[in-house]
Amino acid sequence: MNILHASSEVFPYSKTGGLADATAALAKAQAAAGHTVTLITPLYRGIAAAFPGLEPLGQAELPAKVWRLEPEPNLTVLFIDEPEWFDRDGLYGHGDDAERFIFFSRCVARLAKRAEIVHTHDWQTALAMPLLGQARVGKVFTLHNAAYQGRFPADKFALTGLPSDCFDWLQLEFHGDLNLLKGGIVFSDLATTVSPRYAEELLTPEYGCGLEGVFQAKGKALTGVLNGVDYAEWNTTDNPHLAAAYSADAPSGKAANKRELQRELGLPPLDDTPLLGNISRFAEQKGIDLLLGALEERLGGGAAFQFAGLGSGDAGLEEAMRALAVRFPEQVAVTIGYDNGLAHRIEAGIDFFVMPSRFEPCGLNQLYSLRYGTVPVVRATGGLEDSIIDLGQGDGTANGIKFGDCSVGALGQALGQALSLYAEPARLAKVRDNGMRADFSWSQTTAEYGRLYAAIS
Ligand code: ADP
Ligand code: GLC
Repeated sequence: MNILHASSEVFPYSKTGGLADATAALAKAQAAAGHTVTLITPLYRGIAAAFPGLEPLGQAELPAKVWRLEPEPNLTVLFIDEPEWFDRDGLYGHGDDAERFIFFSRCVARLAKRAEIVHTHDWQTALAMPLLGQARVGKVFTLHNAAYQGRFPADKFALTGLPSDCFDWLQLEFHGDLNLLKGGIVFSDLATTVSPRYAEELLTPEYGCGLEGVFQAKGKALTGVLNGVDYAEWNTTDNPHLAAAYSADAPSGKAANKRELQRELGLPPLDDTPLLGNISRFAEQKGIDLLLGALEERLGGGAAFQFAGLGSGDAGLEEAMRALAVRFPEQVAVTIGYDNGLAHRIEAGIDFFVMPSRFEPCGLNQLYSLRYGTVPVVRATGGLEDSIIDLGQGDGTANGIKFGDCSVGALGQALGQALSLYAEPARLAKVRDNGMRADFSWSQTTAEYGRLYAAIS
């Protein structure tokens, strides 16, 4: 099939979160499966310098320059080069994101007409769905997070170039505003999200972010497909970021990664002390406030463990994380910022990855943790619910620890379970082994998308 994806972030060119990993890996896996795949993304500042192989695309007929790169056989990445919108630091939040991503989506729609399947991701590219109108292409829209909707004042609708009758409550209008995500859902032939559990949750007021009625109206044309992992990037056997290689068959190298991480972060090199960690955007979604509360409670009570944190976002949470590290310098190391290499080293060096998300459409870090022999401690929601098997399962299949309530108390209890598990090396080894042997490769996900595409084309 001739498949065209569009995403506002694509690893390794740009990334703020899992969207970049998921779209890059899906496109790559589909290309490897023999499809002809094009992936369109903005040319942000710095990409051209970092990837000197970019070539100009001749016949684009667009109001912007387009550059192309062929990183894999069957896969072409197209970069939309409009300096006014994209040549600046950072990806989002400049106050003119409506202008920037409406422009980007219009370019995508112009480039999309020859594809059989046009598959766009999140609000930034959702507008391509209504813009393609009656074009003879299969229109697939994946929402990776319903909390980010691309909601803007009604006067921005004029920028879309759509007929004014599209601005009504059944289409792009939402409480008087323009809602791009809603347009993507309504106008797609098939809407997907990134886990089966989140697809169900979206139908409820608790998780639907006001769009639950829109999700309900989509019926069977809204479905959940769990993301996979690009094991060429996220592996422990051939990874330039890691101090030592290890695997399910030869797990001992994990200890060297732990020691090296402790050294790098300035934590005492204690082999027998559990090392917990977290890597994330500091946003309401991720439950960083719960994490802070539970860590403080446990550490204040004298529990013997270490914690390595990496993240950035909400200024108050950044400050609270820093303060925790100042209060417990022997036990807590926090890095505020974005660092891909350190993310790999933390995944490899820690014993438990703590992910107390309020909601989590898929979540990639728990999947990366499994492969890195790091036991995920997660709240039972979305993709975390779908991918983690709790200790309480009792049939020898557990790969992590799950808790239900969104509270400091429930997370604290789960941390207690983690510390007890650590004190039983044989049990811990089994849980780790289950995780490392689990297979979340993209081939399954790609096959599932293939079936879904076939049904609409
Ligand atoms: P989300 O997309 O909601 O942020 P995911 O778990 O799907 O959550 O993906 C997060 C991705 O972003 C992971 O690859 C994670 O390692 C990465 N990441 C998040 N914060 C940072 C950071 N501060 N430094 C490096 N990588 C980060
Ligand atoms: C979003 C979600 C996350 C998901 C990622 C990739 O950012 O918050 O749960 O893993 O997209 O699909």
